[in-house]
Amino acid sequence: MNNLTKLILRRKSVRRFADCSITDAQLNTLLRVAMAAPSAKNAQPWHFVVVEESETLLRLSQLLPYAKMLSSATLAIVVCGDTTIHQGEGAQNWIMDCSAATQNILLVAESLELGAVWTAAYPYSDRIDAVSSALQLPPHIMPLNVIPIGAPMGVERPLDKWKPERIHKERWNSADSAVVNDVFAESL
Ligand SMILES: Cc1cc2nc3c(=O)[nH]c(=O)nc-3n(C[C@H](O)[C@H](O)[C@H](O)COP(=O)(O)O)c2cc1C
Repeated sequence: MNNLTKLILRRKSVRRFADCSITDAQLNTLLRVAMAAPSAKNAQPWHFVVVEESETLLRLSQLLPYAKMLSSATLAIVVCGDTTIHQGEGAQNWIMDCSAATQNILLVAESLELGAVWTAAYPYSDRIDAVSSALQLPPHIMPLNVIPIGAPMGVERPLDKWKPERIHKERWNSADSAVVNDVFAESL
């Protein structure tokens, strides 16, 4: 198993943070990998609001019902999409593009031994309104999520989500259910 595979399998949502500082170099790395994500037509419709002020982190934790851990995070990255970039049938592509950017942030946070978790803003109108208002986002900028980042307290463990029954060989109703051997079964 190579190092990237190990990292992906090790990543987990972290919701309990200890005090820590995050260096400018670490923050820069997280933003650089976010912007390295694939995007439809390479449109890169993302913006990132970095929140470090403890009052704002506390305010967001009070406004977002499933993001209480923001109050103990060192900082948060709010991943936002410019909804005017993709048009027509592709108008929703900002969601996929910003999700890919988010996953890059989550994986590289893990690689830096930082804890992080995707907490939803989109598609919940009350959470979108709360984040937009707290961060003074313009109307065409949609917050996809808020990612609290800090030092993991070490309580969370990666989940094993391997489900061979979710794999379909050649067509949906394949007679052969054991289509893929779990090559990692012995090494995990
Ligand atoms: C679209 C999306 C929304 C999520 N929203 C929240 C949230 O609001 N609060 C939270 O604590 N976790 C949230 N999560 C994290 C999931 O709960 C987490 O990824 C899932 O339980 C699997 O755990 P793992 O990340 O440790 O593998 C969200 C994840 C995704 C992809």
